[in-house]
Amino acid sequence: NPFAQAAYALSAHQLEQLPDDSGLEIAFAGRSNAGKSSAINAICDHVGLARTSKTPGRTQQLVVFTMDSSRRLIDLPGYGYAEVPQKLRDHWRLLIDKYLRIRDSLRGIVLIMDARHPLKEFDQQMLTFCAAIDLPCHCLITKADKLTFSEGQKTLATVKKQITAISEHASAQLFSSSKKTGVEEARKQLGLWLGI
Ligand code: GTP
Ligand code: MG
Repeated sequence: NPFAQAAYALSAHQLEQLPDDSGLEIAFAGRSNAGKSSAINAICDHVGLARTSKTPGRTQQLVVFTMDSSRRLIDLPGYGYAEVPQKLRDHWRLLIDKYLRIRDSLRGIVLIMDARHPLKEFDQQMLTFCAAIDLPCHCLITKADKLTFSEGQKTLATVKKQITAISEHASAQLFSSSKKTGVEEARKQLGLWLGI
């Protein structure tokens, strides 16, 4: 598992603090508390690599994990959590929007959605944005352990139908960081983007 080599590199408040824009990068986006950081830990098979929390608003910067000299994973702050001061939320939003627009090394977005509330407004905006700039987007419908098997299948089918209507470059799968469901499938998709 090449993802097991991922190690914490730095946390950036500003885009200038990011590593050089060369090589290949994948960013994890999604609503606050959806399970972005937990998904990174599951994929990298490393508990505590990315900081997680029961309280939304845990990831407060662009957190960079380096796999090797040319491959990186980026944990983004969550969108839309009301308890985070408006000023900080605006800062994150501008930062993430700019990051997505200017980052040449960005090869794909992993969009994390809670299986119990998939495709909220933010998720649709992100998919639309990715489609507009031809950036591939792979949706992890996470916390699938909270659904029964048939609820999961139904949710997956609905999400697939909706995202295909928004973008040709979008895909989706069920995932659970706590039960490690879908981890291999996710690694396969990310591996394609990273050329591994
Ligand atoms: P922010 O950084 O605050 O935006 O949150 P995040 O999207 O990084 O979420 P995080 O990974 O910190 O997880 C939020 C909460 O959801 C934590 O309490 C996790 O334990 C829980 N969680 C994450 N993934 C799963 C999962 O697959 N199943 C279940 N049951 N809980 C999960
Ligand atoms: Mg987080």
